[in-house]
Amino acid sequence: MKRILSLSLLAAACTHAWSASPAQPAVKDHFKNYFLIGTALPVRHVNGLDPKGDSIVSLHFNAIVAENCMKNAEIQPEEGKFNWTDADKLVKYGEDRGMTVTGHALIWHSQLAPWFAKDKDGNLVSPEVLKKRMRDHIHAVVGRYKGRIKGWDVVNEPIEDDGSYRKSPFYQILGEEFIPLAFQYAHEADPDAELYINDYSMFLPGKRRAYVKIVNDLKKRGLRIDGIGMQSHIGMDYPDLAEYEKSIEEYASTGCQVMITELDMSALPTVQMGADVGSIWKMTREERREAMKKLNVYPDGLPEDVSKAWNDRMAQVMAIYKKHADKISRVTWWGTHDGTSWKNGFPIPGRTDYPLLFDRDYNLKPFMQEIIAQ
Ligand code: XIL
Repeated sequence: MKRILSLSLLAAACTHAWSASPAQPAVKDHFKNYFLIGTALPVRHVNGLDPKGDSIVSLHFNAIVAENCMKNAEIQPEEGKFNWTDADKLVKYGEDRGMTVTGHALIWHSQLAPWFAKDKDGNLVSPEVLKKRMRDHIHAVVGRYKGRIKGWDVVNEPIEDDGSYRKSPFYQILGEEFIPLAFQYAHEADPDAELYINDYSMFLPGKRRAYVKIVNDLKKRGLRIDGIGMQSHIGMDYPDLAEYEKSIEEYASTGCQVMITELDMSALPTVQMGADVGSIWKMTREERREAMKKLNVYPDGLPEDVSKAWNDRMAQVMAIYKKHADKISRVTWWGTHDGTSWKNGFPIPGRTDYPLLFDRDYNLKPFMQEIIAQ
């Protein structure tokens, strides 16, 4: 008996020594008592076309979200015709790895199927028609993954920077009511799913005021809302981190979880959405080439001082998240490695950016290596 025991102990020790090498601490393990560590996955990833990416996602992350394949125009491109293939694979990918899966996004003005808010003559539909389409869409999508998706970004980006409502088709047709309706439909479809509202520039005072009011109003009406998503597409010169922190605190004061839902930090000069982006398209080819030299400044790699500044600022951002870990339930990067980040093409195409947790060679960025080595 004793001999059998010692043999099996020896076997266990050998297996352990084997599987533990090479010993690379996982980011998700470091943060396990703080919050989930997530990443947005493109379709090519869940289709097995990025094996290296797969190994880092499987090791370091415990939460995923669909980068595109659950958006309205992708999943219901024509009325009543659903394209489930990629979304099904994404949900299964998460389940196979024991990850938390978030659904993104049910009601959003962007990547909205052209038919969704229009009639056959191209005019906006009536409130009754839009309500039915919203309800049918939400019931179909949320219903399909009932019990398998932890929570949904129910409404995405409904508010402008100054706190006013975006004049989206949803707002034009239904007014402010489209938000409570979307939350009601989502709750009907999966009463156990968590429900979130999500937006960018959440550090701005206008957005802060608007979202605290929206969330409190939903709660007063007895509607379910669990989380406020701060997308956090940030840069080297914005946001002011004190304002950002203030937003985390104020959103948490509503009783909702705060989620960092789409984190990335551009290392490139900030492009003004209105002025710069508008004028770029009016330029001649030659002018554009010249302008790009000032906007795409590191096509061949980040200079050391810029890389250091980027890593230092990301370390500061992570320290803020840790400090408020009692309020934050998930920190999700919008992508995994720099080469596939949407920021290479936004707000203007043709740039080489460095915004994510892993570099183009799939190496973990230094700020995070330091954090997890502690
Ligand atoms: C982006 C995707 O990353 C791109 O691939 C796509 O072309 C456009 O949308 N806010 C959101 C995300 O809520 O869905 C957006 O994702 C980025 C901004």
